[in-house]
This record gives sequence, structure tokens and C-alpha cells, in this order.
Amino acid sequence: MTDLTVDLVDLLIFNATIIDGTGQPRFNGAVAIRADKIVGVFDGHLQEDACALEAQMSCASIVFDAKGKVLSPGFIDAHTHDDRLLLSDPQMMPKLSQGITTVIAGNCGISLAPMPKAFKTDVTPPLNLLDESGEWFRFKDFASYLQALKDHPSAINCALLVGHTTLRVAAMEDLNREANEAEISAMRELVREALKAGAIGVSTGLYYEPAKAASTQEVVEICRPLREFQGVYCTHMRDEADGLLASLDESFLVGREVDAPVIISHLKVVGVKNYGQSSRALAHIQAHQDRQEICFDCYPYPASSTILSFDRAVTASRVIVTWSKAMPEMAGKDLSHIAQKLELSEEEAIKKLDPAGAIYFRMDESDVQTILSHPQVMIGSDGLPHDEFPHPRLWGSFTKVLGHYSRTLGLFPLESAIRKMTSTTAKNFRLTGRGEIRVGCYADLTLFDPEEVNAVSSYEHPVAASRGILGVWVNGEMVYQDGRATGRLSGQVLCHQDGTTKSMGAL
Ligand code: ZN
Ligand code: CU
Repeated sequence: MTDLTVDLVDLLIFNATIIDGTGQPRFNGAVAIRADKIVGVFDGHLQEDACALEAQMSCASIVFDAKGKVLSPGFIDAHTHDDRLLLSDPQMMPKLSQGITTVIAGNCGISLAPMPKAFKTDVTPPLNLLDESGEWFRFKDFASYLQALKDHPSAINCALLVGHTTLRVAAMEDLNREANEAEISAMRELVREALKAGAIGVSTGLYYEPAKAASTQEVVEICRPLREFQGVYCTHMRDEADGLLASLDESFLVGREVDAPVIISHLKVVGVKNYGQSSRALAHIQAHQDRQEICFDCYPYPASSTILSFDRAVTASRVIVTWSKAMPEMAGKDLSHIAQKLELSEEEAIKKLDPAGAIYFRMDESDVQTILSHPQVMIGSDGLPHDEFPHPRLWGSFTKVLGHYSRTLGLFPLESAIRKMTSTTAKNFRLTGRGEIRVGCYADLTLFDPEEVNAVSSYEHPVAASRGILGVWVNGEMVYQDGRATGRLSGQVLCHQDGTTKSMGAL
């Protein structure tokens, strides 16, 4: 309902089933948009609204009939590695085609900026997941990266984290040890610069080689500026297998020390002997939530994906190679087949393929479902957009949750599914005016067919647009319609200010 006085409206979407992102039940109605904002929300059942709606219909410049379709806030991808894709492929098709209107990038300790020095040899893994050539690591400070994003907008909004692994590579010569005092203070300054420029927080990837050597204290010391800028701390934890609970404790400690909200990235349970531990992990998080702010995201698949390594491969029931610098023709093939064909052990085959990426099957589907069903979870894709043969999560995470988990399996109602990918995420990342259909919010909207919507991407055919996404609007502009990008690049860079996140132009 709204008491909007009749005024010129740019776009009116009527006859829609509106799911507003808060988890409230759906209703039939219309949404009016002027410039980049929602200016009217009409509930079709209400008499007094019918008059206002009629007046709107007559003066709107574009009227869109959404009969039988669901209109929801545009989805927010809580966890991405789109730092470079935003610039190198601004249509953002893997994201647009599943209804995503905002991405959080710079996760897992891996950010494209700042990189004050050039790579003399190969790009240090896992930074090579963003760019294998090193060419894109061209932003000496975070401000110039954000400026480039602003000067070359993409089809969707973005908010950026600065990655601890990137900072280590930037500030340290020997990555195999804890940072010394001088290095810590250099990294802390880079964090301060990034947050001042508009980064929304710091990410770590303590699980990965070059960050593994960091102590908890190193992380705390470099994250100190988070308090001043009210930034968030996101972490791909040190251990998601046997040491899961201890890693949660380490993450909570960092959050408390620097007074920042903790975001646990892609919460999962790895390794056969840990299967079934998801409830314990969730209970552990819940037990700490009265002391500090903690939240978590999840991708809806029982297989992970990152760089190829032997110690990961031995814990997986199946490994698919996603890219290989030495043997690009092996992308998409199972490691076991490759080893057989080369007449090598899997360990030797990995050495031949290196540097390379892989998909690892090493989680239990019922743990994935337990985490996805939790009322506080956010959906994040963790997609790797530059992989030759990517994990299907890149193109299908959000629509898989809507189609497979909500509609087919009935794990949770559509209203809850939408909340997990809109208002919950906006709240946790402090994205002001996003994630809800409400008067005054930005017009980031997704229109889909609730009977049709689903992921099409699979492990066999990972690059495929989703089914059932009919229209996507970003800041009031239609960016995707019936399977195609419209070419409009209306995405904004969302920057942090005073504990909330605003578009960069508004700073
Ligand atoms: Zn990660
Ligand atoms: Cu990630």
C-alpha cells in the first residue's frame, strides 16, 4: 500500500505476484518505478489502491504485465570472485541470467586490488583464479580499482572486499611464514586505504597456501581498521573438515578483537568422516550469536571448486579438472581418466596439469540441505568465472535454490528462498536500500516464472543460462529480458560510509 500522489512514473509492473524479500507471504499487486527507485507498491486486493493504481497505469511511460509471474527483489550474490569479470565482461551474463542484481566480490582472501608490484613469475595461487596472466592485477591501490569500476560500469551492482592473501602477496617477500611487524603495518595501511576508498570489509582465505602461514594475531592486527570504518570480516576458514569448530572459534575471535561482524564464507562440512556435522556447526554459531554478530553463506552443491592440488584430491570421491595451463585440453575431464590416459598416478598427473583448477566431490548432500534450510543462511555462488570448464554453481546457484530445493524438494517456501538471497544478505552486508520491494528502495528487481525457474548448468554442461528468468532490472533499468542482456550497464559500485553502503556517486 502507498499514498503516492499521482505523478509521472517511468515503469509500472502490474498483475505480478509480489514476494517482497522480507519473508512475508506473497500478494498480487503492482510496483511503480521512477528513475532508479521504487515509488509505489500496490496491493491488488485493496480497494483504495485500485484507484491509485489506475491513475499510475494511465501515466506510466512503460507498463509491464506480469500475470502469473513472481516479482522479487533482485538477488544478491553474497560470495563471488567477480572482481575482474565486472571489468572484463560487464554484461555479467552468468549472474544476470539467474536474476542476480548485486555481487559481493573479493572473497576468500583473493581480491584484484591493491597490487602495488608486478608479478615477476606466475601469478601466486590462488590469486590466479582471478587472472592467470597477471595483466589484470594492475591497480596499485584500491581507490583506482573502484574508480575503474565506476568509470566502466557493469550491468549489475557490486560491493568489494579487500583480500588478505592479495595483501600478503603485495607486502611480503617470503609468504611461507607469519608476517613481521613491518609487513603487518604495511598491510594494515593497505586495509585502511581500501576501506577509506569504499571497500566494505576484509576477506581471508586461511585455508589456502600463502595465507595459511598467517597466525590469528596477524589477521587481527591487519583487520584493526575495520572498527573505524564499520567494515565486515569475511572468512574462508582455515579448516572446514576435522577442525571446523576450532576454525569457527578462530573466526569469532577475530571478529571480537576488531569489533566487526563475522561472515563465514560457504559454510560446509568437508570429508567423509565429518559428514553429518552441519547441525553441530550451526549450533556452535548460534551459541555465539548473543556475544557478537555472525552470519554465513552457502552454495547449493555438494562439490567444491578451487585450484587443483593433491591433498584436496585425495579427500574427494571424484575430481573434475576445470582448467589447466599446461594441458588446457583436459578441462572438463575427470582426474582419474586423465591419470589413466597418461599412464600416471593421480599425484603425477596433477604435477603435469599444474597450475590448474578442479571440482572436488567431498561433501554430504544432507549437510548441504541442513545449512541451506537454516533461516539465517545467505546464498552465495562462489562461482569462478574464468575457469575453462567451471563448477555449475557459477551459472546456476540461485535458480537451483528456487527450482530444485524450494519447488521440487519443498525444503522451504519460495518466500524463504527469496529472503535468503535478498533482504538477509542486504542486512548482513549493510547494503542500504537493497534486497526488498518497498517504497524508497532501489529498483533492483527480478521477474521469474515460479513453475519454470531452475538451473540448467550441470557438471557435464556447466555454462548455461537458467530457465524461467524473464526480466531483470538494475537501478530501474531493464538489463535482461527473455534470455538476453539488453546491453544497459546500470550497475553501481556500492561503497561503505558511516556503517551503511551507498552507491559510489553518492559519496
Ligand atoms: Zn572460498
Ligand atoms: Cu570463494
